[in-house]
Amino acid sequence: MDIKTLKKTAGQMVAKGKGIIAADESAGTCQKRFDSVGVPCTEDNRRAYRETIIAAPGLEEYVSGIILFDETIRQETTDGERFSDVLAKKGILPGIKVDMGAKELALHAGEKVTEGLDGLRERLAEYKTFGTMFAKWRAVITIGEGIPSDACIHANAHAMARYAALCQEADIVPIVEPEVLIEGDHTIEQCYEASVAALKKTFEELAGQDVALEGTILKASMVIAGKKAAKQSSVEEVASETLRCLKESLPSALAGVVFLSGGQSDEQATAHLSAMNAGGKHPWPLSFSYARAIQSPVLKIWAENPNANVEKAREALLFRSRMNSLATMGKYSEEMEKERPY
Ligand code: 13P
Repeated sequence: MDIKTLKKTAGQMVAKGKGIIAADESAGTCQKRFDSVGVPCTEDNRRAYRETIIAAPGLEEYVSGIILFDETIRQETTDGERFSDVLAKKGILPGIKVDMGAKELALHAGEKVTEGLDGLRERLAEYKTFGTMFAKWRAVITIGEGIPSDACIHANAHAMARYAALCQEADIVPIVEPEVLIEGDHTIEQCYEASVAALKKTFEELAGQDVALEGTILKASMVIAGKKAAKQSSVEEVASETLRCLKESLPSALAGVVFLSGGQSDEQATAHLSAMNAGGKHPWPLSFSYARAIQSPVLKIWAENPNANVEKAREALLFRSRMNSLATMGKYSEEMEKERPY
C-alpha cells in the first residue's frame, strides 16, 4: 500500500469545485433506465450513451472522476479509443464498480448483503491495467418494521472493510457506500438513527481491517424522510440533520464525503448539497457522486434521438455538473435553474 498515492488520488476526487459522476449502472439497472425512456438496452446503445457522457468536452471543469461498470471499462468510442483513456487524457479519474450486487441476507427477510469479495484481488489487478484509480462498493440498508437489523449492518460493514483493504493493497482508493434507502414511509429521525448505526459500524470495521482513512472516500446517503412519509423534509432539515449525522459518525481523518442522489429530484439533490456547503467549512470536503440527479435529463434527451441529440444531451450534462460544482462551494440557488438549456 502506497499511502502517498492513495492520499493524492482521494484528494483529486474531492478537489475544490469538483465531484464524481456515477455511470456504473449494472446490467439490470441500465435495463430499467433504458426501459423508462423507450430505448432498447443493447450493448451498443449502452456504449453510445456512455460515450455521450464520457467524451463530453469540458466536463473536466466540474468532474474529477467517473465510475464505470465492468462492461463500460472494456468499451471504446466510435473512433476506437478506450473510454478509460479518453477520461485519463482529460484529467478525469476512471473509477470502477466492483461489487456484485446486493443479495437477500439469509435469515433476514427484507434485508440485503452485498457480495463480490471472491476473486476481487485478481479483478482489481486487471482493472489497474485500464488505469483505474478508484473503486466503488455499495451496500444497501433498508428501513422498515424492526429493520435494519444489527446483523445486516454488521455483515455489510464487514464486507465493505474487506473490499476497502483489498483496494488499498492495490493502491486503488475505495469508495465505501452504505446507502440507507429513501424508499418507504419512515421519518427523518428514523433515517438519522439508521444512518448513524450504519456509518459507525462501517468505520469500526474499516479500523478493524487497518484501512487508511486518508485514502478512503465515503459515499453517503443524505438524512431525509422516506419518499412516502407523511411529512417530507425541508432543504434546511436535510442539510442540518445530514451534517449532524456525519459529525457524530465519521472520523476526521477521512479524505472526503460524496453523496448519492438516491431518488431525490435533480434540483433537490443539488439544493441539499449546496445548503450543507453554504454553512462554511467542515472536517471533510462534501461533494457529489450522483447518477440519476445528473443523468436523468441527459438520458431523456439522448433517448429522444440517439443519433442527433448527443450535443443537446451534453449541454444538459454540463449544466447539471456545473450546478453541482457550484453546490460543492455552497453557491447554487434555485434561480439558476432558469438558465437550464433543456
Ligand atoms: P444515484 O445518485 O442515482 O442514487 O446513484 C448513485 C449510485 O452510484 C448508487 O450506487
